Amino acid sequence: MGGTEQDYVKEAFDTNWIAPLGPNVNAFEQAIKEELGNTVHVAALSSGTAAIHLGLELLGVGKGDDVICQSFTFSASANPISYLGAQPVFVDSELDTWNMSPELLRKAIESGIKEGKKPKAIIAVHLYGMPYKVTEIKAIADEFQIPVLEDSAEALGSSYHEMPCGTFGDIGILSFNGNKIITTSGGGALVSKNRTYAEKAVFLATQARDEAPHYQHSNIGYNYRMSNVLAGIGRGQMEVLDDRVKARRSNHHYYKEQLGQFEEIEFLNEPNGYFSNRWLSCILTPSFEIREKLRLALLNENVESRPLWKPLHLQPIFSTAKHFVDGTSASLFERGLCLPSGSNLSNEDLERVVITIKTVLS
Ligand SMILES: Cc1ncc(COP(=O)(O)O)c(C=O)c1O
Repeated sequence: MGGTEQDYVKEAFDTNWIAPLGPNVNAFEQAIKEELGNTVHVAALSSGTAAIHLGLELLGVGKGDDVICQSFTFSASANPISYLGAQPVFVDSELDTWNMSPELLRKAIESGIKEGKKPKAIIAVHLYGMPYKVTEIKAIADEFQIPVLEDSAEALGSSYHEMPCGTFGDIGILSFNGNKIITTSGGGALVSKNRTYAEKAVFLATQARDEAPHYQHSNIGYNYRMSNVLAGIGRGQMEVLDDRVKARRSNHHYYKEQLGQFEEIEFLNEPNGYFSNRWLSCILTPSFEIREKLRLALLNENVESRPLWKPLHLQPIFSTAKHFVDGTSASLFERGLCLPSGSNLSNEDLERVVITIKTVLS
């Protein structure tokens, strides 16, 4: 926490705004809007997953539809496709950003159209805070007139050619889960340049109550709005977002400086014009065996590290889903490791990680 969160939470208590609406929710949405350059409308929600669910519904996804989703991501990117009775079609990554491959995206769309089933939406993810190939993905989406849901859950504070992540999709989503760059303990937001989407998201997130003096419903609604108490935490967190990004980038810089000389260790560099919040600092090793050796050596020092995301097309729950892959994300999963990346790591913590890795490699 940054320090002022409790003041805003206290304000909620003092004014008795203990509800999924109120001044903190409005002010938090305004702060996100300003952070994203005032070009978007924002609906604060109970989680990033809820934002994806509502986003897909607003883009017209329904029963039986195909939705293209980056395979190399957390399962929450794809689960809402199933909530809606639609099917995911997974697309592999490219090596420049580890995100959705434009070539495989085109293949997936063309194959769907050939079979008489044009995909209804594309979920592209800025994984670990690294922006996906925005221009290329958007060009393909525009060519085939398929909307993009931009999963920016891990990328608040990242940008692409100086434009903030979260503002590129027809709908963007953010997460404020406990492990994210800033947090409200649990929370998320739906973001869109289209005011109607943000307004409809709030409507659906508050049980879809029609305008009437009584309780009147013409739609199925959800209870997905953010609490005014948690939005107070969010207001305080927005004040320290820049510091958190600096801290995470500094972790990454330190790891690269200390470990970059080992030929067994590769980092994901920022392509020209890409700015990553470096939510997690990740390394690539030459093999599964070396990855495991490093992970176990760190564990032996009581330091947790984790393999990169297991691609969704390899997950048991999605084993029958269509996929367009070339082995990239499977290889990243086998060879990659997320190093400790918290914004509160001390120099001693970081040194411990580096010494452990150096000892294994030398
Ligand atoms: C890429 C990605 N998408 C979606 C989510 C879902 O966000 P939430 O945990 O707020 O539901 C997360 C994080 O949890 C995520 O990392």
